[in-house]
Amino acid sequence: MYNTHITEKQFKNLVGIVHKVSGISLNESKKSLLKARIAKRLRATRINSISDYIQLIDQDKDEFDNFIDGITTNHTYFFRENKHCEYIINTMDPSKSLKIWSAASSSGEEAYSIAIQLIENHFRFEIFASDISDTMLEIAGRGIYPLDRVRAVPKQLLHKYFQKGVNHSANKVKVKPEVKTHIRFGKYNLVTAPPPKAEYDIIFCRNVMIYFDLPTKQKVMDDMWTALKTGGYFIFGQSESIVGIKTPLKTISPSIYQKR
Ligand SMILES: C[S@@+](CC[C@H](N)C(=O)[O-])C[C@H]1O[C@@H](n2cnc3c(N)ncnc32)[C@H](O)[C@@H]1O
Repeated sequence: MYNTHITEKQFKNLVGIVHKVSGISLNESKKSLLKARIAKRLRATRINSISDYIQLIDQDKDEFDNFIDGITTNHTYFFRENKHCEYIINTMDPSKSLKIWSAASSSGEEAYSIAIQLIENHFRFEIFASDISDTMLEIAGRGIYPLDRVRAVPKQLLHKYFQKGVNHSANKVKVKPEVKTHIRFGKYNLVTAPPPKAEYDIIFCRNVMIYFDLPTKQKVMDDMWTALKTGGYFIFGQSESIVGIKTPLKTISPSIYQKR
């Protein structure tokens, strides 16, 4: 039996660790979520108290990564918020080679969706797809997904760019190598890593800022400015807000900004 009772001190300790490492703010309302996710890790590690678990993540780097993996929300799917990609296709010059960063790519669906559409529209491009989570990056690298993740992919593109699984994998699809070849997956922590300098034409940083507090959002926005080429676009999720953030980026639409 696992004792998942968290004292106030332990909760604050864990919240501090999560914030320091990932920038994610967990307030009191997230306590039950945190407890549920820790309970899962307790079962997986066969440790039966939170105080022992806190000691473990202090000493064991792999379990520490598992803990952060368990705390982050990785929900994503193919062709999510696809208006952004349509904007890029309608605005950018396909003859120029584009460098794109999918900066919290989770299990890879975002990067593959962008790649498929840019290939379709004869763009030259490369994508760096990054995330804080090793588990998500592993899934992304495999490129194998259950059918419910590709529901929003138009049928014709599904047939063209995915292989259908057979036998016990009949409910799965695999991204074809011609799409994969445009993407490099790698670990990158938006909160602790230094930003690349003026490298990118487009940065997608969607549905991750929503978990950050204001100072962390400000740091990420400043880094995005540094990482963009002049004329480049910064894109975040449609349900996210950057109210209160100071940035020299110019607003194109509520979730698309440009460095001029
Ligand atoms: C909800 S997913 C967003 C996936 C995709 N961008 C989308 O819009 O569908 C959020 C991702 O942000 C990642 N994440 C959280 N904190 C991060 C950090 N500090 N640095 C990089 N990635 C982070 C999580 O691991 C998760 O995969």
